Amino acid sequence: MNMQSPVRIGIIGHPLTHTLSPALHTAAAKELHLPLVYGTLDVGNDFLPALISSLRNQKFRGANITIPYKEAVLPLLDEIKDEAASVGAVNTIVNEDGKLIGYNTDVTGIARALDSVRDSIHQKSILILGAGGAARAAAYAVADSCSPQGITIFNRTQNRAENFVRHFQKHFPKMTWEYFRERERLPHAVEESALIINATSVGMSPHSGTSPLPLEIRFSNHQIIFDIIYTPLRTALLKHAETYGAATINGVEMFIHQGARAFELWTGKPLPLALARDTVLKKLKENHKRE
Ligand code: ATR
Repeated sequence: MNMQSPVRIGIIGHPLTHTLSPALHTAAAKELHLPLVYGTLDVGNDFLPALISSLRNQKFRGANITIPYKEAVLPLLDEIKDEAASVGAVNTIVNEDGKLIGYNTDVTGIARALDSVRDSIHQKSILILGAGGAARAAAYAVADSCSPQGITIFNRTQNRAENFVRHFQKHFPKMTWEYFRERERLPHAVEESALIINATSVGMSPHSGTSPLPLEIRFSNHQIIFDIIYTPLRTALLKHAETYGAATINGVEMFIHQGARAFELWTGKPLPLALARDTVLKKLKENHKRE
């Protein structure tokens, strides 16, 4: 990164009202005295191709991509890195001298969030709730970095889960891949799983009273429940799991580590993690007070 003149980075999505990425990257750049300007680029679908194309300008070092464009940007880029191609979604773009390269740093974020529990998942069964982009990143991260025995997908829409499993079976043929949509099968699937990941948006503010798993589901204190949501920090699902003594992981570490990997790709420098945590938790508290 040229440290002399200001370089621009934007987050592209719609709507962008709740994003914490500008606060995270601006605080890190300030701490490291980097001339980085991180702004929001809230655009409608019709403007996406022109906006992506304009990132080739040398003033731009890249962008983050968020809902609903993580899949739509793929054909607009010049190169897609392996994990992003396998996941089928891009959340980070790097402008290398006019060439736009797509990465998926959500995969890194999820893998790092699971660092402390990796050994307890080895050769065990994992249950992922959801079959969208976040669920695909979760499946890739777990399959690639945790060597589980198998991954089961539970999703409301069957054909999405079916396509998901078909796709990942090809990439990771040594693992078992299954899916189901019937809620009656949930208690058994939960009981069989060492790790349960919520990769749906169910439970996210302003619908924080809802949970992707029914209240009659029981957990055990050997299980780990990871909710990728970070607004609120303690979702209804995590509160429910805590009452059974299960270990819980909220979405903050994933968010920080996806940002850290993106920051490193753009600047070549590690993101100061302690500062990032402080910044994100402070912002979440402020937002919570405002709501
Ligand atoms: P993302 O890229 O963040 O994963 P997405 O692709 O829209 O977003 O996927 C959202 C996931 O949450 C999907 O698995 C979706 O289920 P469907 O495939 O059936 O749409 C799931 N989801 C969202 N709202 C839900 C709800 N109210 N009940 C159950 N699942 C829900």
